[in-house]
Amino acid sequence: MKFFLDTAKVEEIRAATELGICDGVTTNPTLIMKSGRSQEEVVKEIAQIVRGPVSVEVIAEDAPGMVKEAEEFSAWASNIVIKVPMTKEGMKAVRILSEKGIKTNVTLVFSATQALIAAKAGATYISPFVGRLDDVSSDGMELIEQIMDILDNYEFETELIVASVRDPIHVVEAARLGAHIATIPAGVLEKMWNHPLTDKGIAQFLEDYEKSKKE
Ligand code: G3P
Repeated sequence: MKFFLDTAKVEEIRAATELGICDGVTTNPTLIMKSGRSQEEVVKEIAQIVRGPVSVEVIAEDAPGMVKEAEEFSAWASNIVIKVPMTKEGMKAVRILSEKGIKTNVTLVFSATQALIAAKAGATYISPFVGRLDDVSSDGMELIEQIMDILDNYEFETELIVASVRDPIHVVEAARLGAHIATIPAGVLEKMWNHPLTDKGIAQFLEDYEKSKKE
């Protein structure tokens, strides 16, 4: 299972990269805004730090506009992936980009039918938003289970990115379902390392080591 960082903050990406647990990065206009930097400047820097795919979202709402933006963004670095919203125009763009050999990440996926359509369009990645489904009393992880079944049934090459991850349990459940990737905010990633019994155990061992030296 791959871990992507769901952030446009370079310091968070550097920290996860140094720990060897950043296989890629996903951004969106909200995350770019939170970085306080321009999309082009920050994405170019991220694409140098991270070897894996770096998703950048198009703003155009029509397929020709999306393709134009995609071609521009793709020239920034070899590991750029174009994030395209799950719309009819978006799927037209995904078909064109797929034929051009440009990788795509279909975003704002909230149903199994949307995922199936995106896979058939040739999406490299699809991003179902589990947290936002949980927010409206739907079961985000149930959708992941459905989509993984569909992808497996037909041996699609499309990879599933579990997105809108809000807590470590989302990552655990994603891994149990065999999801290819989870894109994780830095705060959630931090929580995944910690366990109070680990801290307690280390403190106890250090204390006992000191005692053993005195004896
Ligand atoms: O990867 C999509 C993600 O950035 C959306 O997360 O927390 O805004 O639903 P959230």
